[in-house]
Amino acid sequence: MGQRRGLGRSGQWAQMRAVTRRVTAPTWGPWRAGRAAVAVRLPRVEAYVHGHSGAVAKAHSVRTVANSAPHLAGRLRPGLRVLDAGSASGALTRDLAARVAPGRVTAVDLAPDVVAQAQADPARPSNLEFRVADVTALPFGDAEFDVVHMHQVLHHLSEPLAAIRELARVARPGGIVALREADYGAAFWFPPAPAWQAWRECFQLVGRASGGELDAGRRLRAWLDAAGLTAFAQFSGSLWTYPGLAPASEIAASWADRLTEAHFAGLAAAAGVADESSLAATAKGLIEWGRSPAPFFAIPHVEALIQLPG
Ligand SMILES: C[S@@+](CC[C@H](N)C(=O)[O-])C[C@H]1O[C@@H](n2cnc3c(N)ncnc32)[C@H](O)[C@@H]1O
Repeated sequence: MGQRRGLGRSGQWAQMRAVTRRVTAPTWGPWRAGRAAVAVRLPRVEAYVHGHSGAVAKAHSVRTVANSAPHLAGRLRPGLRVLDAGSASGALTRDLAARVAPGRVTAVDLAPDVVAQAQADPARPSNLEFRVADVTALPFGDAEFDVVHMHQVLHHLSEPLAAIRELARVARPGGIVALREADYGAAFWFPPAPAWQAWRECFQLVGRASGGELDAGRRLRAWLDAAGLTAFAQFSGSLWTYPGLAPASEIAASWADRLTEAHFAGLAAAAGVADESSLAATAKGLIEWGRSPAPFFAIPHVEALIQLPG
């Protein structure tokens, strides 16, 4: 009672509002409005929405600089010190390491099992090291890296700005921060399929309930604006495409597996978004779509190459 009176009458309430504003102002711009509206309706479960199961690990394993970091390819040189933030098992990181050798590459990820396995791999190149770390609180000093790379991680974070600021902090003056984010809301396919529509909505909602935002590509510029980095950024875009029967049925099967794997099914159920039987029905629809004549699926990405002032 006394506490409520205190909050209402004294400066404490104003002080509390000021603190709230200070904490939220950098992240609560117009871009955040839609996300907040959904986030309050759904139970919040902070988690990496895809998990690190078989289908996800397989999808990560085929990533290269050519297919996942085209905006950075021309800037990689032997001798550069590189950080790959949110590397997962590090297929893409290995390509980075090959291109900058003998420069050193450090890869960090929040998933201890994945990091331990990647670090223990006997085929790991000698200039590449994997460590467990949170991209919003990196265990590195200021200006330690020439290039800081992050691919498809911001969309999992409840505080993308905190991560962007950390990446800029550990890059040296004149160095590069390279970001690339998919945009699930912009994915498209042919022939039309209700199953892909259901897939999209399900991932968007579970992603938001897990603290992230899967329509991230379109928000990248706003995030960089809020971080004060737009003036130094070059924006570009590229598509992952799956044209024709074999690639389209493979991507449909991959997402069908992800939908029904225990990790995602658990998050979907906890968020009240979908139960096992509706996920199974969506997965079945995706597999059937993969057998349709002349199928095509694409997911757009937005890239930002930020050259920090020297
Ligand atoms: C979609 S995967 C991308 C992996 C890799 N960059 C690639 O493109 O192959 C996202 C990764 O970010 C990691 N991750 C999520 N939140 C993180 C955080 N706060 N700090 C570090 N890694 C994080 C996940 O564990 C996962 O491995």
